[in-house]
This record gives sequence, C-alpha cells and structure tokens, in this order.
Amino acid sequence: MSDPYERSAEYLDIMIADAWRPLAPALADVLTGVKAKTGAVVDLGAGSGRGVRVICDALPRTPVLAVEPSVAMRAVLLARLHDDPELRRRVTVTAGDCASFDWPDGVRAVVALNMLGHLPPPQRRALWARAARHLAPGGALVVNVTPPFEPTTVERVRMAHATIGLSEYEGWASARPSGTDEITWHMEYRTLRQGSPLTQASVEYRWWVAPEEALATEAAEAGLSFRPAGDPDLGLRVLTRVGGNNPVY
Ligand SMILES: C[S@@+](CC[C@H](N)C(=O)[O-])C[C@H]1O[C@@H](n2cnc3c(N)ncnc32)[C@H](O)[C@@H]1O
Repeated sequence: MSDPYERSAEYLDIMIADAWRPLAPALADVLTGVKAKTGAVVDLGAGSGRGVRVICDALPRTPVLAVEPSVAMRAVLLARLHDDPELRRRVTVTAGDCASFDWPDGVRAVVALNMLGHLPPPQRRALWARAARHLAPGGALVVNVTPPFEPTTVERVRMAHATIGLSEYEGWASARPSGTDEITWHMEYRTLRQGSPLTQASVEYRWWVAPEEALATEAAEAGLSFRPAGDPDLGLRVLTRVGGNNPVY
C-alpha cells in the first residue's frame, strides 16, 4: 500500500504543531489519571513524535513503544528521539501498523491520536478488540474523533501555516465523499518565499468516518466503554475495559 505521508512528511510536524498546543496538556491530564500504574504506553501512528514527548513528560520512567508505518515519518520521529537523552532511552520505535504490531500484554495506555480515520472499519474494530485484550487492568486507550462524522464535502481551507527563516509553509485541506463511510482528503502543502510558491506537494488519502454512537457501539462490542475527556473541541475519547478494576478512566 502506498504511503500518503511519503511526500508530505517534510511538512507534517510543523503543520500539526498548533493542534498539539491544546492537545498536549489534555493528553497529559488523561494519562496521569489512568489507574494502571505499570506497563508500557503504546503510541499508535506516532508520526513525528509530538505525542511521544507528551507521554514521556506525563509518565516519568514509563517505557514507550512508538508504532509508525511511514518510513518518512519515522525519519522525523527518530531525529526527535535521538536528540533527547531521555526520549532516546525510553522510546522504542517499531516500523509497523495497528494490524502488524505485536502488542505486549499489560499495556498501561494506548494513544492513537489523529489517526483513527486511517483505519477501515474492520481494522478499527480490531483495534478495539486488541486494546481490550492487551490493556492492563485500569489501562486506557485514548483516541480523538474529529469531524466530519459522515461522508460529506469539506471545502478547501488553510489548516495550518508556519514561518521558518525566510520561508513560509502552509497546508490546505479539502475532502469529498468517496464511499458510504469514507471521505478522501486532498491535502496540499506549499513552501513560499515572500508570497511566491517555491515548492509544493499534494497528497490524497482515504479516511473512514463514523458517527460517535457507532464508535461507542463497536467499542462496547469489544468490551470497552467510550467516554469523552477534556475540552469537547479536542474530541478526546477514553476507552477502558467495562467492569475493569474500577479505573479512574
Ligand atoms: C496525521 S498523522 C498523526 C501523527 C501523530 N499521531 C500526531 O498526532 O502527531 C497520522 C499518522 O498515522 C499513521 N498511520 C496511518 N495508518 C496507520 C495504521 N494503520 N496503523 C498505525 N499508524 C498509521 C501515519 O503514518 C501517520 O504518521
């Protein structure tokens, strides 16, 4: 399968930085509230490693497994880890995806942020089932749900921009319905100098959408409860085993 991030990896970390500003403290809050106190934390689709940084700051001494299928994104991730002695010691990177990753038992938390829509429904259901099987008692799976929740057109919008040196970087997103439960995102990234485009990259990828109730039902079928956490605008959801050892989450 082709990697939609192969051509956009240059832009991803700087384009997602703004989204992580409110997400980072909210994720830290969730993680420190998780009742399970032992086991590794898994970051599924770790991308450039912004989530890994938050996990390590929130949970000192906890080992982290960062699962990332894109070789281009892993290059950014490894650069972030290598430059920080603490991250370098605690974070192990796996070149795999949700389906191929060999889950350890007794996982304290699984973080799967900004990636749920990449999973076709059978893989999404497999994620719930695997989390239910491998979470430690009181452990939690953390995801975020973002609109649209049904196949619909998303008009082209500038989603992020950044300036580094003399260059400006911007990312534009639009989407069109492409199935009964999916949309196709069209992402365009540009580097500009004094307003004139220097380079650009555009990518398309499929993104599976579902109403929240459908996700909650799927999770319940796997034995997981599905609860909101933090500022509603962030769309954070915490999944824990139903009847699990009275977890905080
Ligand atoms: C939008 S990025 C988000 C990265 C990171 N979680 C963040 O929030 O900064 C989505 C990531 O999910 C990864 N991904 C795509 N399909 C995946 C799968 N089936 N299993 C695990 N990761 C996947 C991509 O390679 C990409 O790095």
